[in-house]
Amino acid sequence: MSSSAAPVVNAEYMAEIERARRDLRALISSKNCAPIMLRLAWHDAGTYDKKTKTGGPNGSIRFPEEYSHDSNKGIKIAIDLLEPIKQKHPNITYADLYQLAGVVAVEVTGGPTIDFVPGRRDSSVCPEAGRLPDAKQGASHLRDVFYRMGLSDKDTVALSGGHTLGEEAFFRDYAESHKKLSELGFTPSRSTSCKSCDKPKMLMQAAAGVAVAAAVAAWAYLCESKKTMG
Ligand code: HEM
Repeated sequence: MSSSAAPVVNAEYMAEIERARRDLRALISSKNCAPIMLRLAWHDAGTYDKKTKTGGPNGSIRFPEEYSHDSNKGIKIAIDLLEPIKQKHPNITYADLYQLAGVVAVEVTGGPTIDFVPGRRDSSVCPEAGRLPDAKQGASHLRDVFYRMGLSDKDTVALSGGHTLGEEAFFRDYAESHKKLSELGFTPSRSTSCKSCDKPKMLMQAAAGVAVAAAVAAWAYLCESKKTMG
């Protein structure tokens, strides 16, 4: 398994993370590229398989073998936009940088503040294609994929709010589920305090403009009615 060592998360690393955060804010605002940054973070993390402990937020999406998967069409744009920030902050792992970009993308577009814990190691092992959900398949496929990652129905529904970036339509608990997504298979070497975990402002809101979000919302409704019925 070709994984580099975990970065040492000390005060210096944390300070570098804060500098990179500022650079990411500037980049994402000036290039108006929040959606693709969030998509990059999600596609790096969303390959996680909790049984085999493979995939996940490990920066492997930077390799052509992975970013050329059909599901990753267009994602190279985000990888290239982030490369100058990686060059400027070389100690920060790709894995941390991509997840930080996802967190910043949500924040700069008015979404909830997400607690970010650094320390992910980079991997050069790319998962096989087909681990991310396929929009053409139904609810049971979505459920299988998110369960494989170790995420719950509630996380799936909350995270689907990622499609409504900038529309003030985040689900309640989005920040919590996003944090889980960004930490799949990653155990921080030390816990950092949650300085700015604001409760997400938005209440549950269905009706996303995207078919995927609508499908997930319908599914959540069905789950809820089943519960009510007994
Ligand atoms: C529930 C399963 C999901 C499916 C089936 C799905 C599918 C898709 C599809 C088909 C697109 C359009 C891609 C394109 O423009 O070619 C898309 C875009 C996007 N997805 Fe998802 N997605 C899912 C979950 C998520 C999650 C969990 C997040 C983030 C938390 C997310 C964030 C995004 C974003 C931000 C875009 C817009 C990217 C852009 O405009 O550049 N998606 N998704």
